[in-house]
Parts: sequence; C-alpha cells; structure tokens
Amino acid sequence: MEVKLPWIANVIHKNPDYFPNPEKFGPSRFQGSGPLPHTFVPFGGGPRMCPGVEYSRVFILVFMHNEVTKFRWEKLIPNEKVKYDPMPRPAYGLPIRLHSHKP
Ligand code: HEM
Repeated sequence: MEVKLPWIANVIHKNPDYFPNPEKFGPSRFQGSGPLPHTFVPFGGGPRMCPGVEYSRVFILVFMHNEVTKFRWEKLIPNEKVKYDPMPRPAYGLPIRLHSHKP
C-alpha cells in the first residue's frame, strides 16, 4: 500500500518551537544563522527539491527591491482577507495601485 504524506509549508513554518512568535512579521529571524537546518523548507528538500529555487530567489529579490525602492503601494482592498487552499493567498489577488517615488 502506498502512503502519501503531504506537508503544508504554511503550517510547519508556524511551529513556535522553531519560529518563535510565528504570527509576527519578522524578517530578521532569517538573519545570522537563521532557522535550524531543515525547518524552513518552502522549496521542499532532498532529491526532489524544487529545481527552481535559485532562480526564484533571485527573481523575487530583484522584484521586491524594485517594488520597494521605486514605488509606494496602495492596497485597493485595505482589509483583504487571506484564504487558504491550503496555501495562503489574498482572497482577491491583492490588487494594488503603484505610485512612483519620482515626482
Ligand atoms: C517561489 C517559487 C517556488 C516555490 C515556493 C516552489 C516550491 C516547490 C516545492 C515545495 C516543490 C516540491 C519539492 C519536494 O517535493 O520536496 C517544488 C517542486 C518543483 N518545482 Fe518549484 N517552486 C517555485 C518555483 C519554481 C520554478 C520557477 C520552477 C521552474 C522554472 C519550478 C520547478 C519545479 C519542479 C520541476 C519541481 C518538481 C521537482 C521534482 O519532483 O523532482 N519551481 N517546487
């Protein structure tokens, strides 16, 4: 009999044993030595780990750098809910209006 055991990154990354105060937005938790090995696994692990990991990291880093340094965000739905299916997503796709920092 084959048993499949799915894991949900959103849940294991909120384990307070490894991520103190998990609901708090705290990017500094990844500074220094960061989380213990094999506890933060958004790209999976082992031989079937996501092959897009390095591409995705660079892509997101460049995207976020430009977003933050060049634009101010205005959320069009201020209190937009998060839905879980099972990963968390903004209920309406996080519509925003971007305002350039340049006049
Ligand atoms: C933020 C972006 C991404 C996240 C969070 C992500 C996450 C994951 C996760 C969790 C897995 C399963 C790993 C496991 O079973 O241990 C996976 C597998 C995979 N990902 Fe990604 N991924 C991302 C982007 C990408 C990109 C950009 C590509 C391709 C260009 C890609 C291609 C793949 C492929 C082909 C697999 C299957 C690997 C296998 O089964 O051997 N992913 N990804």
